[in-house]
Amino acid sequence: MAARNNGDGLVVALGLSLWTLLGLQVLIGVLLSTQYSSAIGEAHGSVAAIGRGGFWGFLAGFHYWGSAVTILLAGLNLAVLLWYGRNGWDSRWLWWGAIGIAVIAVMFQMTGNLLPGSAHDVRTAFKEASIASAAPVMGRQLFEATLGGIEVGQSTFDRWYFAHRFAASALLILLAIPCLRAALRLRVSGLWRWAPVAVIVVGAALAVGYGAPHGPTAGAEDFASQAVKPMWYVLPMHALLNISLSVNPSLSWVGAMLLPALGFGSFALVPLLWRKGLPAVFGRLALLAGTAMMVFAVLTYGQQLQSPFSETAMAEGDAEPAGDFGQIDTALAKVGREEFLEAGCLGCHSVGGEGLAVTGPNLGHVGDEHQDPDWFVEKLRDPASKSPGTTMPSFADLGDEKLRALAEYLRSLRASDEPAP
Ligand code: HEC
Repeated sequence: MAARNNGDGLVVALGLSLWTLLGLQVLIGVLLSTQYSSAIGEAHGSVAAIGRGGFWGFLAGFHYWGSAVTILLAGLNLAVLLWYGRNGWDSRWLWWGAIGIAVIAVMFQMTGNLLPGSAHDVRTAFKEASIASAAPVMGRQLFEATLGGIEVGQSTFDRWYFAHRFAASALLILLAIPCLRAALRLRVSGLWRWAPVAVIVVGAALAVGYGAPHGPTAGAEDFASQAVKPMWYVLPMHALLNISLSVNPSLSWVGAMLLPALGFGSFALVPLLWRKGLPAVFGRLALLAGTAMMVFAVLTYGQQLQSPFSETAMAEGDAEPAGDFGQIDTALAKVGREEFLEAGCLGCHSVGGEGLAVTGPNLGHVGDEHQDPDWFVEKLRDPASKSPGTTMPSFADLGDEKLRALAEYLRSLRASDEPAP
């Protein structure tokens, strides 16, 4: 039977491709897990060994790129269903399946990203947990539950590996049953059915061409650091995060968590509220708004993103040449300390055992990382100059004198020395 004008062909092509790809990914994941160790001292080395083997290296590459392709197809799938208004009661399992797959694909991606244990992976995990920590009431609990502690450690690997292997897979299997039944009821012409093959060829080509990038192993300085470029798949959340931060620094959770959850949640209600599906105008308007938002996000934040092709680049300005910047001026550092309390830095940072905030890193040893006062002044004036995409606000308004004092206080915070009074 020929495809009717309600998008059956595309819908089936995308659905079949997504389920085939995810099924394949689960299989490859099971294979890779036989070579992988989630022990924190072994994870990075085991992934490096996998990457060296021709066959295993190809599987790792496919696992990496297949995940990217899945997320992109899941977005396209939602867009197509919106366009054709396939979100009424009759199409509910196509629609709920599309939402579920998008959420599960991102869950696989985010949890899997930590497993190779590179510096970039570990910092990304800490950053994600820190964003969750800004949520009201439950923030601190959420932060510690996702990490299994207050920084990335063995329990983080245990938890995320469990979520990756079992929790995400279980959700996928639950979702598969009603969705595949719904998809198999649609009859379409032959050509569309080849879509899964095309998708697999694309994934395989990316795997052969680029492999799975594997950056340097995480060191002590990475386990509680947020200085990292965001990954491409969090771009929409990254944009919402920055917009809500510009309204008010304490609202980061609204953009990064509340709005995405509300968006997907209200999407899921559509078949219950509109038996015949979202009126075509609404659906296409929503699609237009979503597309405009993506274009805006790419144009505004695109250049801050971590490239998916390599994993060497940490946040820029992370390293600084060693040099002698002289003794700490304790009187100036003391003024800086007052300023530190006044400016509200403790709202986001703790210092050693002082303060509970986890949005920014603990600054207790920041003087061991940087001694150049200019570095601190520039950091406070334009935080993104040292860490693209950072959520830390600029303190340029304080003026040079106060920034110099703050810088002196910050460089006095060393593990080796007594901190300034
Ligand atoms: C709204 C939250 C927020 C506030 C308020 C804030 N920061 Fe930050 N800060 C961050 C985040 C997030 C980072 C990590 C990313 C980065 O390096 O920019 C950070 C990073 C830093 C770093 C770099 C740490 C490193 O190890 O590289 C320094 C230094 C710093 N902040 C100092 C301050 C000072 C001083 C104040 C007050 C004047 C302050 N921050 C206020 C969120 C905040």
